[in-house]
Amino acid sequence: MSSSSNQGSDQKGMNPPPKISQSSLDRSWIAEVSHELRLPIANIKLLVETLLDGALEDKETLVRMLKRTSQEVDRLEGLVKDVLSIEHVTHNQQEDLMRSEVLLLDSAIYALESTEDLARKKSIRLRTEVEDDYCIYANREQLNQVVLNLVENAVKYTQEGGEVKIRSGQNPGVLIVSDNGIGIEKEEVPKIFNRFYRVDRTKQRGSTGLGLSIVKHIADLHGAKITVQSELGAGSRFIVEFPGAERR
Ligand SMILES: Nc1ncnc2c1ncn2[C@@H]1O[C@H](COP(=O)(O)OP(=O)(O)OP(=O)(O)O)[C@@H](O)[C@H]1O
Ligand SMILES: [Mg+2]
Repeated sequence: MSSSSNQGSDQKGMNPPPKISQSSLDRSWIAEVSHELRLPIANIKLLVETLLDGALEDKETLVRMLKRTSQEVDRLEGLVKDVLSIEHVTHNQQEDLMRSEVLLLDSAIYALESTEDLARKKSIRLRTEVEDDYCIYANREQLNQVVLNLVENAVKYTQEGGEVKIRSGQNPGVLIVSDNGIGIEKEEVPKIFNRFYRVDRTKQRGSTGLGLSIVKHIADLHGAKITVQSELGAGSRFIVEFPGAERR
């Protein structure tokens, strides 16, 4: 398994999420978001124009095009949700993070409930191996988001019949999300935390590529370290190590 560890935003080849700054939207961030918005908007425009140009007459074409339009709208919706999420995290960091001892099991249950529909559709088994009293010193909402984004990816990038596991570590403050899915090539691993980065853009139509940049951003805010172990075709393991309350 190839392994890569990311701590702080100074890693080579890594494009860090938006900086903690007074004005939370920097220019490159606006440019990137606009660029990503442009494609689904252009596609929707084209689909609607084609329908108005006569494709409306044919019921089969009409249904096909409306389905495509609906997919593009979903993509826009996902993008806006992720951008707002980054904005929320950026906003939070200017204030006190409001950390507390959060039961990892609660965050795991939240993530499992949010992904169970997709997992069921793909016959993927979701498992948790977290002791009832295992805590992570973190902002509750942000820890929920980290677990959710990692579990969502694990389910998305695992084939039918696979398995996704949420575990706690041997030491305190450690979250591990693993899957036996498609895995990630060694050279790709450092890039997956970049904003809008997707390993295979053509196959990942429903994705915006922001989920892991949000995870990285939250980890940085908490001083947590992320390690990725992955093997193409065998699966991936994401390990997030949060510092304890005493190291605040
Ligand atoms: N568990 C995983 N197994 C295999 N590949 C993964 C896994 N997690 C992430 N990746 C790869 O890393 C890329 C970036 O992940 P990220 O969560 O940032 O974006 P996304 O899942 O494509 O979109 P979003 O989370 O914004 O909907 C993914 O597109 C995928 O190629
Ligand atoms: Mg994702």
